[in-house]
Amino acid sequence: MDEQTLQAALANPQNLGEMPDADSVGTVGSPDCGDMVRMWIKYRDKDGQRVIDKASFQSFGCQTAIAVASMATEMIRGKTREEALQMSAEELSRPLGPLPPMKIHCGQMVEGALRAALDAEKAAATPTPVAPMIGTAAPTLADSLNAAGKMAGKIKIVMQPPAPATESL
Ligand code: FES
Repeated sequence: MDEQTLQAALANPQNLGEMPDADSVGTVGSPDCGDMVRMWIKYRDKDGQRVIDKASFQSFGCQTAIAVASMATEMIRGKTREEALQMSAEELSRPLGPLPPMKIHCGQMVEGALRAALDAEKAAATPTPVAPMIGTAAPTLADSLNAAGKMAGKIKIVMQPPAPATESL
């Protein structure tokens, strides 16, 4: 992993913070490490096509997740929803170089948040109940999500599946 690029991204994270006028928001958490990323997306029309105008994020997570989320929100600008859905965790974290094995899930979490936000936008036309949160971080996030009442119906929460238990009897 390119430490210099990582530090540069952390020193000046792009698109950090909530977006009150977003069209959709998606949140993904990793029960493995307890980290979370939330991403907001706003669309605009460009030559008759609906493209991503801007995206922002909040990360309750590690430095790698923050750096990848910062880069991802820049990369997806101007893309259609379908184009953004094509982007893999590997592509989103490419500026950092290959991630070490223990950091691969950080990029995947950002990809998950992006997909959740893109899916939430699609689902906004037919609102579905917000999925219950699980895990230790649930009360805090659930509270903050409930506080964003006007976004109700546009929020999709996806929890990554927990890793298989490694404890032996
Ligand atoms: Fe879990 Fe980075 S250590 S998201």
